[in-house]
Amino acid sequence: MKNKNLNRAAILGALTLFFTACEKAYFPQPPKAKVPTETAALEASFVSTAPITINDAYWKNADFLKVPVSDLNKGSLYPDGFLNMTGTYNGLTSFNKGADPKVVMKAAYDNTKLYLYIEWIDSDIDPAIEASWLYGPADPLKTDTTGGWTSQGNSDKLALAFDIANASSSAGTFADKGCAASCHNNKMQPATGSVDIWKWDLAISEPLGYATDMVTDPSGLVNDAGTTIAVRNKLAAGNARSAPEFEWDGTAQEYVRPDGKSTTLDPAFFLLNKTAFVGDLKKGDEVYHNETYGCNHCHGDEGGGVGSFGEATAFASTGFASKWSRASIKSFSGDADHQGKQYWSQVPPANYDDLIAYIKGLGSIPGYYLKTPTGSSSNIWSVSNVARTKVNTIAPHTVYKVILVRDLTTGNPDDIQFTTPEGKSYPFGMALMDNDGKNHIGSLKQILTFKSK
Ligand code: HEC
Repeated sequence: MKNKNLNRAAILGALTLFFTACEKAYFPQPPKAKVPTETAALEASFVSTAPITINDAYWKNADFLKVPVSDLNKGSLYPDGFLNMTGTYNGLTSFNKGADPKVVMKAAYDNTKLYLYIEWIDSDIDPAIEASWLYGPADPLKTDTTGGWTSQGNSDKLALAFDIANASSSAGTFADKGCAASCHNNKMQPATGSVDIWKWDLAISEPLGYATDMVTDPSGLVNDAGTTIAVRNKLAAGNARSAPEFEWDGTAQEYVRPDGKSTTLDPAFFLLNKTAFVGDLKKGDEVYHNETYGCNHCHGDEGGGVGSFGEATAFASTGFASKWSRASIKSFSGDADHQGKQYWSQVPPANYDDLIAYIKGLGSIPGYYLKTPTGSSSNIWSVSNVARTKVNTIAPHTVYKVILVRDLTTGNPDDIQFTTPEGKSYPFGMALMDNDGKNHIGSLKQILTFKSK
């Protein structure tokens, strides 16, 4: 028995050796999987299939550029009433709490389009509330008063800059100094020529699947021609302290993005299906704190969810708005299941909307409303790894992955044109913002090269 088994093992071993030898000698090796290699420039390879999903095999295997980041602008604050909007105030030491964002870029092109892939680490997702309307907290970096409408919070952003027409400033030319050529008089504008700015923004461009397309020249930074993707949600004559103009109308915010994929947008952060905002915040504040029927008795003086009579839902949380439209707040408040029904039933109906204006102000109303862009404002699509249906600000966020897609040529004077780009190189700059729209870190000049087909 023992011998037999040994023999079998010996024969098997010999056979295996034979086949392995055969394989080595006579069968061609399968092609080796491409190993992604770090490159000195951002190299766009020619592709036959558009890589427009984050998990596309092309991005897994593509060569990559590591973009080193440094402080580009820090120490800037917004005007009066705009609060807690400068999460990158101290530059590199503020961004991602000082940890290296490890920026990686990859690129591809086909006969009509350029595809850019950008990945960076930002370990907290700054909820897409850009200058949202809030009866909100003070800003530790500012001395502005609070206690009425304020515009609060910012979002995470990525911006790319390309030379449209020989931009330059006292720092030099774009070809030489990159983005530094678009900084003049302490503003984002060149002294001569023009610069194309592609801005991906969690609050206002990502939800509909575009990047905001902008241009800056000696007269300043403006949006490209056409309908812009987002409009400031404020009463026309107002400022950072006026009042929101619109609120969510309570219907599901379904949207088909330019890549053909449908999404439903979280109403806590994104405003697409809207209706007029009504009610007087100050009157609502009085009703909410009324000695007899005030909601503060259970929902807390500042909406924190703990009052003198008990505990109830915290109104002062952005997520509150995900579930509750104005109509549903009214119907739930008067429902038999609501422990505060007796309180609601004493509120004068003429003040219902004032009270809800205040409750919504505790939770925040998006600072911008979204619109499908048109014309030159609709040139750049985006695809990302961000969940838009229910934005989770509690679970740890690790990495942003974004793809930007644009036609090589658009024919618009406010865009860079990549006309027959094969073999050509284009300088560009890259900036990142963490809960900010002014202070940024990034790289002034990198090179995008289109490899031969
Ligand atoms: C006596 C305590 C009490 C008072 C006063 C009170 N509520 Fe409530 N309320 C509750 C409790 C408890 C809940 C949580 C109910 C649940 O989870 O089902 C709640 C929930 C709600 C909700 C639903 C929020 C959610 O996400 O569950 C709304 C809307 C609401 N209250 C409105 C009001 C308004 C408006 C007033 C003031 C007129 C008010 N409440 C006063 C106890 C109170």
